[in-house]
Parts: sequence; C-alpha cells; structure tokens
Amino acid sequence: VAAASGHTVVLVDQSDEILTKSTKGIEESLKRVAKKKFAEKPEAGAEFIEKTLKNLTTSTDAVAVVHSTDLVIEAIVENQEIKNELFKRLDKFAPEHTIFASNTSSLQITQLANSTTRQDRFGGLHFFNPVPMMKLVEVIKTPMTSQKTFESLVDFSKAVGKSPVSCKDTPGFIVNRLLVPYMMEAVRLFERGDASKEDIDVAMKLGAGYPMGPFELLDYVGLDTSKYIIDGWHSLEPNNPLFAPSPLLNKLVEEKKLGKKTGEGFYKYK
Ligand code: 3HC
Repeated sequence: VAAASGHTVVLVDQSDEILTKSTKGIEESLKRVAKKKFAEKPEAGAEFIEKTLKNLTTSTDAVAVVHSTDLVIEAIVENQEIKNELFKRLDKFAPEHTIFASNTSSLQITQLANSTTRQDRFGGLHFFNPVPMMKLVEVIKTPMTSQKTFESLVDFSKAVGKSPVSCKDTPGFIVNRLLVPYMMEAVRLFERGDASKEDIDVAMKLGAGYPMGPFELLDYVGLDTSKYIIDGWHSLEPNNPLFAPSPLLNKLVEEKKLGKKTGEGFYKYK
C-alpha cells in the first residue's frame, strides 16, 4: 500500500524464501486492486503494478537498510521480547530523525518504545486485514510520543490513502478492544452448544451487517494471533470475563489449526 502510493519501501523478513512468497502475495493483491481501479484501462493497470513494484525492494538485513530509512513499520510476531530486541538493535543504526512504529495488535507501545532511546519518535501504526481494502489506521500516541511524530504518522496514514483515528496506548486500542471480546463471546456461545458456528456466522452477517461472521474472521485473522491477544490481556486483567481464554481456541492452536493460512481453523479451506 505504501509502495502503491509512491513511497520507497524495503520489505524485510527472515529469509529469501519468505520474501519471495510475500512478493508473490503482493503481486496478486496488486492485480486485484488494478483490476478494480483500472477496469476500463488495462494498460494503466499494468503500469500501476509496474510502478508500484519498482518502489519495492526486499532484504533480510534490517540493520543494513535502516540507516537510510525515514519510517520503520514493524509487523513481526506478537512477542514483546522479540520486538524489543529488534527495536533495540535498529535503534543503534537508524538515523536520528527516523520514526519507529509498531503494527502490534495488542502489546503496549510504551513498553516497545522503552527498548529504544527514541521514545519521542515512537508510536503505533495499526493497519487492518486486508490492508489494501480496509480504510482505517489507528495511530497511537504514548505519553512520550512527540506531537511532531504523531502528526507525521497521521500524515503518512493519509498519504497512503487511509483514514486515521487516534487512541491512547490502551489494550487493543479501539477496534481490537471491541472486536476481540466479541469474537471470544462467539466462541463461548458455540462452546456452550447454544448455536452452531455456521448459524452464528450467518446471524452476524445477515442480522448485524458484518461482512464476515466471527468464526470466518477468526480464521482470517489467524487463531494464533487471536490467542496471543487474549492471553496477553488475560495476564493483565485475570478477573475480566471478556478476556478469559477459550479451551476450544487453545485446542485448535495446539493442533496447529491456525485458520486460513494453514488450511484449517474453525473451518476447512482448500
Ligand atoms: N488485496 C487486494 N484486494 C483485495 C484483497 C487483498 N488482499 N482481499 C480482498 N480484496 C478485494 C477484492 O478484489 C474485491 O474487490 P471487488 O469487490 O472490486 O471485486 C473485494 O476486496 C471484495 O473481495 P471478495 O469479493 O473476494 O470477498 P468479500 O466481498 O467477501 O470481501 C473482505 C472480502 C474485504 C475481506 C470482506 O469480507 C471484509 O471486509 N471482511 C472483514 C475484514 C475485517 O473485519 N478486517 C479486520 C480484521 S481485524 C484486524 O485486522 C486487526 C488485527 O490486529 C487482528
């Protein structure tokens, strides 16, 4: 999305194999966007894809690319220590002006910022799946984020064509604080045997106008990601019934049924 809006992007991941897969995914996504955006002009669509891909390079060496980076958007595994370690390392090599942002769904931005010496140039930038389609970005300001950094993150969100909203550094920010307890309540409804997962999904689509039912959405987001979120909040507030872990969700994750990405979660995928 950043490359499509004219930004120079370096996509960093752990191996060339992952990067090849990611680039392929991006190409497929761009084709869908181009097909819609340039329905009448396929040549303009092809040009859009070519231009976007020209703005995108890949690397497995974050330290080597960070020295010429204005904005780092971290979207690695939802694990505080691993994220802290990455930010601490990048902080040593990034230029003074570089802003660090995390796309975390549930961890505290303040704790991540504290692993660096640039707490004033650190904020949250939370995108939603599928990013090319979802218009929202949550911009998170910690008590240490400077106004200038916050405004830069808001401006960047607008520059990539999104609508930013802001929220304090609180668990789940706005969307996940409402969405995750709702999805967990759906799992509990199903666990109690009150309704089938298929009927719960149909009910929320046709009765509440949601584009996906809660089980379809859990599979789409990833059951591991959902479990990380709920476990983290449960340890912060063990007595909050909205944050109670679910035996069924835990069982599926243990069986490596993580949703769409592994071919099976609550539902099976071809
Ligand atoms: N890249 C580009 N375009 C995409 C895309 C992608 N990855 N995925 C879907 N699209 C486009 C399609 O090309 C299609 O365009 P068209 O309507 O012009 O043909 C359009 O989206 C609709 O796609 P489909 O026809 O395949 O399917 P749907 O109509 O069912 O829509 C959906 C798919 C947009 C994913 C819709 O079901 C939806 O909005 N679902 C809810 C998603 C949601 O709630 N996301 C938030 C999750 S929470 C989160 O991300 C936070 C995290 O921290 C956990």
